[in-house]
Amino acid sequence: MLKRTEYCGRLRASDVGKSVIVSGWVHSYRDHGNLVFVDLRDREGLVQLVFDPENHPDTHKSARDLRCEWVISAQGTVRRRSEGMTNPKLPTGEIEIAVERFELQNTAKTPPFEIDDATNVGEETRLQCRYIDLRRPSMQNRLRIRHRVTKIVRDFYDDNGFYEIETPFLGKSTPEGARDFLVPSRLCKGMFYALPQSPQLFKQILMVSGMDRYFQIVRCFRDEDPRADRQAEFTQIDVEMSFVNSEDVMALNEKLICRIFKEILGVEVPQPVRRMTYQEAIRDYGIDRPDLRFDMKLKDISDIAGKSTFKVFTGVVESGGIVKGLCAPGGGRKYSRSDIEKTLADFVSDFGGKGLAWFKVEAENGKPVLKSNLVKFFTHEQQEQMLQRFGAADGDLILLVAGPAGQVNKALAPLRVRIGKELGFARPEQYAFVWVVDFPLFEWNPDEKRFDSMHHPFTSPIEEDMHKLETDPGNIRSQAYDLVVNGSEIGGGSVRIHNPARQAKVFDLLNITRQQAEDRFGFFLRALEYGAPPHGGIAFGLDRLIMILTGTDNIRDVIAFPKTQRGQCLMTEAPSTVELAQLNELNLRVQAHSHGKHQPE
Ligand code: AMO
Repeated sequence: MLKRTEYCGRLRASDVGKSVIVSGWVHSYRDHGNLVFVDLRDREGLVQLVFDPENHPDTHKSARDLRCEWVISAQGTVRRRSEGMTNPKLPTGEIEIAVERFELQNTAKTPPFEIDDATNVGEETRLQCRYIDLRRPSMQNRLRIRHRVTKIVRDFYDDNGFYEIETPFLGKSTPEGARDFLVPSRLCKGMFYALPQSPQLFKQILMVSGMDRYFQIVRCFRDEDPRADRQAEFTQIDVEMSFVNSEDVMALNEKLICRIFKEILGVEVPQPVRRMTYQEAIRDYGIDRPDLRFDMKLKDISDIAGKSTFKVFTGVVESGGIVKGLCAPGGGRKYSRSDIEKTLADFVSDFGGKGLAWFKVEAENGKPVLKSNLVKFFTHEQQEQMLQRFGAADGDLILLVAGPAGQVNKALAPLRVRIGKELGFARPEQYAFVWVVDFPLFEWNPDEKRFDSMHHPFTSPIEEDMHKLETDPGNIRSQAYDLVVNGSEIGGGSVRIHNPARQAKVFDLLNITRQQAEDRFGFFLRALEYGAPPHGGIAFGLDRLIMILTGTDNIRDVIAFPKTQRGQCLMTEAPSTVELAQLNELNLRVQAHSHGKHQPE
């Protein structure tokens, strides 16, 4: 077999004169009668092969039978392309290989779509034939970047004294709020393992064990509905450190992210990364993962609107709600009345907003004034106050939503992002980082009438809020932090509770009984009793990080073999039915709604 000496895509003008052997897939094929041209493709790119009947008639003859995606190895000499034949779009575009002989390694069926980034093929077909899809340069590039990032991660944590330690996949459920994937045990009949939602408790126990600094690039499993940035099976860069406070964790781990952005994109992330409290994020952006590529802060105008004569606003304010909105610079010119009342209002209503009030800002005698059929409900002074609050200028558009605070923020936050993008304020190649800190420890669950953990139940309260544990748990801030870039949460963590009595108290507040706590985390509570050091950590979502680095908004683009919205792998057709014998061995029986061929009646 001809033994490869070079990758196709790496050859350059400096290789002219070299005798080389390349191997790859026939990307395209042109038979010009006297000359046959083949673009040969490998992981690194394309190179042009030329088969010339004059010098090597037999080779030329067999080359005429080649077809797309056949696999060959070719030996020849690198030469400069003739005048006018160079291709500046191709890194190998100045050269070609004059082939002396080649070996056919394999033939191929005609692929269901072209191996070309410009090919517009449905995602379903791409996922069914992922081996073909992964041949496309964009997919190869994303997986290459993913590899480079994991290499940087390993080097970074090794440089900083961390041990990479594996934790079990077959474990007991760890509560991160999602549903568990369960695995039946054959040896312990009727019992189940849970695949880890994260290695949270194991990494904390590693701190109790004195490992001091741990990291792991680890698969996590959460049985939730997949979304554009969420998969049931995803990868975390999971980290835990002993004898640290939240500043220590943030300061060290942001260096990793800065190193990744520098090495992969050449982007300098300003350090230290900005910190913003949860409260500030909700107040100014309506969300705990603000997109800070542009300003356009939300403003609460309940004080002004509550005094107007517009019944909708006064009614909302009287019943304890708020009137809040944003001012889109230039939005008055960009959006027509029907854009606002149809497109934007429908968008707001999709996010739970009840109506969208609007004012265009126009200049009259050199001064900005409000234009809208709601103007009549506001006194001149109130209009002035509103203009001032928003800093509004000629050509702007003010949009307002009224209702309970939570509902208003939920509607305004995505509206702000949409408008920011549509007005060109949020450019894709810009990266705005922020640590959101001081999250509430608990959030009230109105359906269950109890508190839930905002992050997870192992998060430590802020020391100065400790006294509220008994009296005012809803207002306790936690030592939790999320790293957000361009509105996407790429990581989150906290300083943990390392005192068993305090941990038990938090379980109480979460309505987790002593018995439940014992059943679910008894092993962990016992570990805390044997000298747990103060510790804290973080987990980054590797897939989300790669999405940002490669500029895609589809998480499936950064995972070699992802699942669909229904959690299926279209290539292997998982999940699938199983043999009756397998079920019997596990003591399992499939009951209702089974369409499987091997299930019992
Ligand atoms: P958390 O649940 O916030 O924290 O997860 C950490 C990060 O993982 C990413 N992520 C996901 N990515 C893709 N698909 C999903 N379904 C998915 N879920 C989460 C996000 C998120 O910021 N044990 C804690 C961390 C800690 O406290 O140290 C945890 O898992 O980018």
